[in-house]
Amino acid sequence: EEFGGNLKQQLKKLFDESLKLTVSDEHGLEPLVAASDAKFRKLGDYQCNNVMGIWSILKPKCSQFNGASVLGQAIVSNLPTSELVKSCSVTGPGFINVVLSAEYMAKSLEIMLINGIDTWAPTTSVKRVVVDFCSPNIAKEMHVGHLRSTIIGDTIARMLEYSKVEVLRRNHVGDWGTQFGMLIEYLFEELPGSDNEVVTTIGELQLLYRKSKRKFDHDPVFKEKAQHAVVRLQSGDPVYVKTWAKICEISRTEANKVLQRLQVKLEEKGESFYKPYIGNMIEELNNKGLVQESDGARVIFIKDFKTPLMLVKSDGGFTYSTTDMAALWYRLNEEKAEWIIYVTDAGQKEHFDLFFKAARKAGWLPDNDKTYPKVNHVDFGLVSGEDKKRFRTRAADVVRLIDLLDEAKTRSKAALIERGKDKEWTLEELDQTAEAVGYGALKFADLKNNRSTNYTFSFDQMLCDKGKTAVYLLYAHARICSIIRKSGKDMNELKKTGNIALDHVEERALGLHLLQFSETVEEASTKLLPHLLCEYLYELSEHFSKFYSNCQVNGSTEETSRLLLCEATAIVMRKCFHVLGITPVYKL
Ligand code: ARG
Repeated sequence: EEFGGNLKQQLKKLFDESLKLTVSDEHGLEPLVAASDAKFRKLGDYQCNNVMGIWSILKPKCSQFNGASVLGQAIVSNLPTSELVKSCSVTGPGFINVVLSAEYMAKSLEIMLINGIDTWAPTTSVKRVVVDFCSPNIAKEMHVGHLRSTIIGDTIARMLEYSKVEVLRRNHVGDWGTQFGMLIEYLFEELPGSDNEVVTTIGELQLLYRKSKRKFDHDPVFKEKAQHAVVRLQSGDPVYVKTWAKICEISRTEANKVLQRLQVKLEEKGESFYKPYIGNMIEELNNKGLVQESDGARVIFIKDFKTPLMLVKSDGGFTYSTTDMAALWYRLNEEKAEWIIYVTDAGQKEHFDLFFKAARKAGWLPDNDKTYPKVNHVDFGLVSGEDKKRFRTRAADVVRLIDLLDEAKTRSKAALIERGKDKEWTLEELDQTAEAVGYGALKFADLKNNRSTNYTFSFDQMLCDKGKTAVYLLYAHARICSIIRKSGKDMNELKKTGNIALDHVEERALGLHLLQFSETVEEASTKLLPHLLCEYLYELSEHFSKFYSNCQVNGSTEETSRLLLCEATAIVMRKCFHVLGITPVYKL
């Protein structure tokens, strides 16, 4: 018998076996799924609710069972005996309710405490995944959308890393687009001879971007020159390349500051990296007969799409799609990635749909989206300010991400000082805690929403110590740590010698929720939905409060068991924080 791990998976195994014994394989039935649903909590911990579906397929061909309910009973009686399942009942038209054994759950928790939470990591057959996230455009603003991409992408990467997958974290920086022709041409024209010494800071670079963009939009002669400059750059003219490299460096320094603060690891392989692969890639597609001429451009037509995928423009330049095709080729063939995940705002859905289709047409990807190699566009909604308008800070008309991080930290520090923590802690402690809370709040406020929905950014809300906020959760964790500290017990010793009993209803509910961690991370990472994990974490803290207000810990006869439950809760919370990119604090 396995202990811990994924309860849903273990139940599924048992029911699969029973189903095989009950009805023969040739019926081609979907295996039973165990589902947990609050409505059925009174009946059991899990429920199988597809017996009716199976019955409706079976009915015309088989006279053995008289209705779904009878079939359900048969499945229950054929269920292999296991320590996991205490009892089953069939209710209604054929729902199978499963009550788990509290002894089994307690034992699983004890084992996790000894062997560590990594033994609860989801298992997957996938070995290597590319997560393409953050990916700002050089010289343009790194805006809130890039912050969302960074936070969501990092969590997806962390979920997969926890599942022992090798994750290639890729910053697909826009360092090769048309903006460079415009920027470089403007520098050459307006500031001749100054080469690349005039622009040294991100502020200057952004000013340059705005000025050259204005000229580009209003001066057709300049526009043409700028477009020509892109081609010169893309063909490797050293003067253009030198200026280009300088501009990239300024942006890189700025972006790295943000990534460092958020503790996000990322490897830059910008659009320009894939330049050497473009030629062969187009050649391959051409040999497959996919490339067509259209008004002097070379394109791939895709059924149901109004505009084709543009590989080579009529002036010889390449596009965002060209690079994405080359990058996909590289990721599949050179990096041998089985799953490639792109994290960008929902506005780019069309682009991804189109180029994924082109890749399927080329035979690079299977026709269905279930088998590997697989691609996914993880899209997300917009962030608006509290006035419901486009998000901006007081100081500027766009938000500089670094200012946003500063403000999160300043506000959380002020809240700590208000509670007198500056007198209790060293300056360093105060600073570190302010960062953990401030940045954690920012991340959680983003991750807790289903990523596809738009949300309103509010410092007041995200830094509130009640409700679904990182602040509330970090407090809950710190409180558990203080309960453990106050007991004066050596937890490492207790883990080895002590036992857990889940006798009280709240103990049992907490224990079950803890054991559902594994299936939750698995679901969140396969569906690419981090908010499921946020939801889980919030519910965990609620289960804990209910437990703590109903069950005395320190000084009670159940002290050892309950301290171990506290410890298990703290460990699972910390793993959640870790996966969400939040730094836990031990006192608050
Ligand atoms: N640079 C793009 C942007 O800022 C995002 C790139 C996403 N990755 C990709 N492979 N297309 O919108």
